[in-house]
Amino acid sequence: MVSRPEGAPGAGHLAAEEVPVPEPGPGRLLVRNRIMSVTAAMRTMMTESDLPMPAFVPGRALWGPAVGEVVRASGGGFAPGDLVVHPYGWREYAVVEEERAHHADPAVLPDPAAYLSQGATAWGALTRTAPVRPGDTVFVTGAAGGVGAMAGQIARRLGARRVIGSTGSPHKAERLRTELGYDDIVVRGAGPALEQLRRAAPEGVDVLLDTVGGEQLAAALAVAATGARCALVGALTAQLGGAPAAVRVDPALMVARRITLAGFSRQDHPDLPGEWAAEFGRGLRDGSLVFPHVRLRGIAQAPRALFELTEGRHIGSVLVEV
Ligand SMILES: NC(=O)c1ccc[n+]([C@@H]2O[C@H](COP(=O)([O-])OP(=O)(O)OC[C@H]3O[C@@H](n4cnc5c(N)ncnc54)[C@H](OP(=O)(O)O)[C@@H]3O)[C@@H](O)[C@H]2O)c1
Repeated sequence: MVSRPEGAPGAGHLAAEEVPVPEPGPGRLLVRNRIMSVTAAMRTMMTESDLPMPAFVPGRALWGPAVGEVVRASGGGFAPGDLVVHPYGWREYAVVEEERAHHADPAVLPDPAAYLSQGATAWGALTRTAPVRPGDTVFVTGAAGGVGAMAGQIARRLGARRVIGSTGSPHKAERLRTELGYDDIVVRGAGPALEQLRRAAPEGVDVLLDTVGGEQLAAALAVAATGARCALVGALTAQLGGAPAAVRVDPALMVARRITLAGFSRQDHPDLPGEWAAEFGRGLRDGSLVFPHVRLRGIAQAPRALFELTEGRHIGSVLVEV
């Protein structure tokens, strides 16, 4: 990162630099990256924010989830040629602490790119924090994002009867309905979210997975059914839209309807990635789950990938082949 953006990030804030390939010390691997993901969180991490994630540092490489091939290892259960998942994307060669590398097992997920899905977050939120029960109506905000494009499928897998999403355009809404199992969509900018959600969920919302906040979160709370469970996962309206994500909560309504509202962080659940990989592998093999994503080729495309993602150009995860 060349410098921290004040407003929207642009081409000048990121640059590709050539430096010598680093030497791995003891307990570290040298990994040739193959594919990495870009996410909305990275846009947030380019600035100092209130979100609980460290900011990127001007003058240093960005980082984020990647899959690569081990080139050099000093034992520790890794050997040259192994595919590993690790947190040092945004570079062709990475030095990775052995404890931060995990084998990408082709017997579990045949396409290593699938290890970069955001499904573990959606799976965790909908099984741990806001568990879906058979027959539920589920509302997923940010349904076209990496988390949301998996969350609709997962809600259905867990027995939801009706799955509603939100997105930023009628075109994406159509794709979410026809390709990703959403029954109805709240479209940002197409009228008040509350009116749209009332129409889409006339019997109320039993489970909310919220990645957006703001108007959409307020609408979900207003139509929450008795016993509703709400998992707060992100705040895209502040992260990408520059508008406040905060909402007013009416305690009388929360008590009367016994609504549970809880933040979710994937970091609190170290068991999730393995559990999700096994579930995702089963679903991909029998065709009951798909991995919506786009791939751009070449590390030079990584900044473009990030800017396109923040503009909402894609559906699902945005990956860059390094
Ligand atoms: N708690 C955790 O453990 C955890 C883990 C992973 C991610 N997260 C968070 O979850 C959220 C979603 O992550 P993600 O990786 O799925 O995101 P993503 O794929 O990067 O989401 C990008 C999507 O955001 C939507 N968007 C753009 N501007 C928006 C705006 N002003 N308001 C609402 N949506 C807007 C765009 O779709 P549309 O324009 O079509 O809506 C775009 O497709 C983020 O807040 C991320 O930080 C949390």
